[in-house]
Amino acid sequence: MQTSVNVFLGLFIFEFAGAAPITDTIIYDSEFYDIPLGELPHPFAYDENKQSDQVETEIGTELRSVIQESYSSAPLTEETEDEASTPKLIDGSSVQGSGVLGPQTQDGLPTCLLCTCLGTTVYCDDRELDAVPPLPKKTTYFYSRYNRIRKISRNDFANLNLLKRIDLTANFISEIHKDAFRRLPQLRELVLRDNRIRQLPELPSTLTFIDVSKNRLGRRGIPNEAFKNLDELQHLYITDNNLDHIPLPLPESLQALHLQNNNIQEMHEDTFCKMRDFTYVRRALEDIRLDGNPINLSKTPYAYMCLPRLPVGNLI
Ligand SMILES: *[C@@H]1O[C@H](CO)[C@@H](O)[C@H](O)[C@H]1NC(C)=O
Repeated sequence: MQTSVNVFLGLFIFEFAGAAPITDTIIYDSEFYDIPLGELPHPFAYDENKQSDQVETEIGTELRSVIQESYSSAPLTEETEDEASTPKLIDGSSVQGSGVLGPQTQDGLPTCLLCTCLGTTVYCDDRELDAVPPLPKKTTYFYSRYNRIRKISRNDFANLNLLKRIDLTANFISEIHKDAFRRLPQLRELVLRDNRIRQLPELPSTLTFIDVSKNRLGRRGIPNEAFKNLDELQHLYITDNNLDHIPLPLPESLQALHLQNNNIQEMHEDTFCKMRDFTYVRRALEDIRLDGNPINLSKTPYAYMCLPRLPVGNLI
């Protein structure tokens, strides 16, 4: 089985159309590779080329009207005990000086008036924010896209022990304190695309999804072995960053690696595979994008032997 996969892959090298999506260019027979189809796709299809997330924007707008209704009908002074009623505002009362509308921002406005809080999700998209607002302690999902945030400080996300997703797409972030995300024990998804980031901070090992596309990481922005201990990481998107190398080592759990439009010129035979162990198979990694890089994938034919699919890029 192993040998036949390798031979088949060896014969499989052909020309790819530069930017064509992988689904159009590869016929993938899941039975042949012995991988159950159910394991393959990500639970939600993520199009990192999308400029704005229209669906979520629409949801956000609806939520805002729902939450405004609940403001006008609910007494603001005291929290009701009614656990079953939805939507429920975040209880920010444990944060000093904060009430049912969350902690006070610098402008003196509570976070949940400036933004929209629904359940434990805080939506701050497109509010002209220039800093991360103080978040209620129970926040699990935080969206702050299309703002003017320039800097992430050490304590912006301090003590948010339930935080699972941070989305800061399309801000002006150029600086992130190295420990800003490190002590978030539940953080799964970190989206920092379309900013001006030059240096990646320390990353918590719970992350499954990282998108730092469209930044300025360049040659040195990714520390050595930055992803090595992220053993739940499934999706890593670092397109459009002027990177000149593939960050190594890649965790075994990785399913998708998008590195389009960088400056990667070469790859080693054991970037993905193990030249000393021809029985090794990297089963999970089935979506590698290297198109838009000055790299000739035909030069390293043995580098793909252990993969379920060939990378997309120039095979010329
Ligand atoms: C790419 O590499 C292959 C194999 O070394 C070589 O035959 C081919 O000419 C190269 N193509 C370009 C455009 O350099």
